[in-house]
Amino acid sequence: MLRPILARALPLSLLITMWPVEGAPQTRELKNPVEGQQKAIEQGEYVYKSRCSECHGLDARGYRAPDLTSGQFSNGTGDAQLYRVITRGIPATEMPGINMNEDEVWALISYLRTVAVPGTNANARGNAQTGAAIYSGKGGCARCHMVNGKGGRLGPDLSRIGVARSRMALAREIRSASEYIPQAYEPVTVTMRDGRQIKGVRKNEDSFSIQIMDTNEQLSTFLKKDLRDVIDEKKSLMPDYGPDKLTEAELDDLLAYLRTLHGR
Ligand code: HEC
Ligand code: HEC
Repeated sequence: MLRPILARALPLSLLITMWPVEGAPQTRELKNPVEGQQKAIEQGEYVYKSRCSECHGLDARGYRAPDLTSGQFSNGTGDAQLYRVITRGIPATEMPGINMNEDEVWALISYLRTVAVPGTNANARGNAQTGAAIYSGKGGCARCHMVNGKGGRLGPDLSRIGVARSRMALAREIRSASEYIPQAYEPVTVTMRDGRQIKGVRKNEDSFSIQIMDTNEQLSTFLKKDLRDVIDEKKSLMPDYGPDKLTEAELDDLLAYLRTLHGR
């Protein structure tokens, strides 16, 4: 009776030893066996450019994903923690688990240590409290974005945006939203047979139908045979906030506020 239970319990306990839960005492800390080794760093750079740069940027300063050059990681800066984030990803976020062999992961971590430039902290600029007031006040951001369950739904939920994007990517998005438009938020205009037009973001589309959320947050599905036209717009439904709408100082405040949004 007891044997199968033990047999099942054993690998689990091994797993717990290798992957300590955050905050739990760590029985054995994984260490990078090739730390600082030139060959590993070069291999790691190659792996980085092919597997990570698409989201974190060629210079690791963050594009659609956080800046990796600050030397600090919100999910833990130790070798073991980085190993876990890279191989398993961060569940329920856009950071995927990446399938690689152990040597590649350690080489990658050796490389990541070389790109860290601690102390370059543009994040320190701005006042988060003033930023929060701009966000819900003159910025009008809450009209279209949800933060912790409150706000509009036309744009993406921003509850976790402070850890999910680099400062640079956020600044670019606010100044010129149309430069990058994530999937499920592409602007479209559909024209009905009677000439009526509806603007919204594309949630789904197949050969026969299209589902959009219109600017009143109404979800509607249309059969294409009932439509005269589906126009892919170039311009995001998010307005551009140029310096006329937000000064550099106000943008800094707003970014300081967004940096505080860490989600669950
Ligand atoms: C599809 C885009 C994508 C790819 C590819 C990707 N990442 Fe990420 N990564 C993200 C996003 C988005 C986050 C932030 C997730 C969150 O916390 O919401 C993230 C988070 C991280 C973090 C945690 C940062 C912190 O502060 O704790 C590390 C470390 C990381 N990625 C390293 C890598 C490495 C190394 C690779 C290549 C092997 C890689 N990522 C590939 C999108 C990506
Ligand atoms: C009229 C609605 C609307 C308003 C107002 C608006 N946004 Fe957006 N926002 C959107 C839409 C739609 C998208 C997705 C399309 C895109 O990326 O341009 C978006 C995208 C974003 C993104 C990118 C999210 C991601 O996953 O990368 C950020 C960040 C953002 N908005 C911040 C803001 C801030 C800050 C404000 C206020 C200064 C604001 N938005 C005002 C509709 C809006």
